[in-house]
Amino acid sequence: MATKIKSVWYCTSCGNESPKWMGRCPACGEWNTMVEEPKAPKNASGGGVAARQRAYIDASDARPQRLREIDLSSDNRFSIGIEELDRVLGGGMVAGSMILIGGEPGIGKSTLSLQIPLCCKDLRTLYVSGEESPKQIKLRAERLGGSDDDCFILSETLLENILTQAREIKPALLIVDSIQTIYSEALDSSAGSVSQVRECASALLRYAKETGVPVILIGHITKDGTLAGPKILEHIVDVVLQFEGDTKGSYRILRSIKNRFGSTDELAVFEMTGSGLREVRNPSEILIPMHQDDLSGIAIAAMMDGTRPFLIEIQALVSTAAYGTPQRSATGFDGRRLNMLLAVLEKRAGFKLAAKDVFLNIAGGLRVSDPACDLAIVASILSSNFDLYISPKVCFAAEVGLSGEIRPVSQVERRIAEAEKLGFEEIYISSFNKESSFAKRRSTGPATDVNGGRGITVTPVSDIAALCRRLFQ
Ligand code: TYD
Ligand code: MG
Repeated sequence: MATKIKSVWYCTSCGNESPKWMGRCPACGEWNTMVEEPKAPKNASGGGVAARQRAYIDASDARPQRLREIDLSSDNRFSIGIEELDRVLGGGMVAGSMILIGGEPGIGKSTLSLQIPLCCKDLRTLYVSGEESPKQIKLRAERLGGSDDDCFILSETLLENILTQAREIKPALLIVDSIQTIYSEALDSSAGSVSQVRECASALLRYAKETGVPVILIGHITKDGTLAGPKILEHIVDVVLQFEGDTKGSYRILRSIKNRFGSTDELAVFEMTGSGLREVRNPSEILIPMHQDDLSGIAIAAMMDGTRPFLIEIQALVSTAAYGTPQRSATGFDGRRLNMLLAVLEKRAGFKLAAKDVFLNIAGGLRVSDPACDLAIVASILSSNFDLYISPKVCFAAEVGLSGEIRPVSQVERRIAEAEKLGFEEIYISSFNKESSFAKRRSTGPATDVNGGRGITVTPVSDIAALCRRLFQ
């Protein structure tokens, strides 16, 4: 007699299981996230906390140890040959770790993961692709300019086969592209469903912990920018790296959003070229001036992303509104914050922008969220409004408050140092930034010695009116 396949409802956000549909997941509170899937049989290992703990601890030799007796020397990290990636991982890859790389389609996840075995020649790698055929991968590898004897390619989507092959080949690194295309025979649901993603990720995690082989999973991303599949995937893995950037532009940012072995402040910048991803060691190169000196509406911000300072170009265009309602449009920047800055300019500094269209663009296709860009944005808008250019040797690092005051930002000293290194002659910061940070710089001599042609002048400003006086008069 055919048995009826029971189905249950899973929340796509947190993986919570429910016997019936609900509009709102009782576990995570998200609306409209329940999907119906066949129920996982009892013998499937499943995800969840217990499975994860089973994977970490081999029950036979689990004994309590004194904290000071735990040996750290066995935490064997190894470098993977791509310096920027090593840095984002916290100084190399840790044996037995599981790394999830997420990003939009076409951003370069497959390219980056194939570049790892090509850069690190003596790393025995098994590259499993559920999306591309070995021929396609070979073509890509040729484009990336490398061939590697120790890189094995497997086009497979069945989890059990992948694990069998991995146990046979005994690679030093396993790459699975992508977790949403892999399925396990133990479950009836289709590949990419919540229960499959959870089951496959837990099985691969057990493999990583048992063998000490690091596993890289590639994950798709949904329209709203979160990793597809349940959130539980993020809980299972040790490291989550997210690829960001405009797929039409050439710069990509690889950001660490979770890292059990390092800091999440790290980020790496890559450029997509005709022969793969190139590391951008100095992110400020995005700023390469591609215009003449005397264009209005351009200002340079000394921003920080994570722990890295870099300078980016901000472009604004202010023109008379053609229609009744003025347009405000921001690319790479939060539109609401732009509206706030415009309101501050209107109310606190008396600039009549209500009848003007304002367009803002961050060069290089980047997205910025550092409030220290505020001052450069205000300066670029004013520059375009007055049609007066700002010297390309000047940059800005301060936040603008609601009452028009120019507020201090963190790590101003590092921003100044980066601007100085890149040959800027003047940086505007808040006059409320701790005196010590730039007073010290003054006393050390050449830093503010503009006459000597070296160093950088630090100009503190307290409000927008003072900024205008200094910039445009
Ligand atoms: P891919 O790694 O396939 O993206 P993902 O796996 O994240 O979907 O990257 C695909 C894009 O990268 C594609 O649009 C072509 C481009 N690309 C290059 O510009 N140069 C190259 O050397 C390669 C391999 C890809
Ligand atoms: Mg891909």
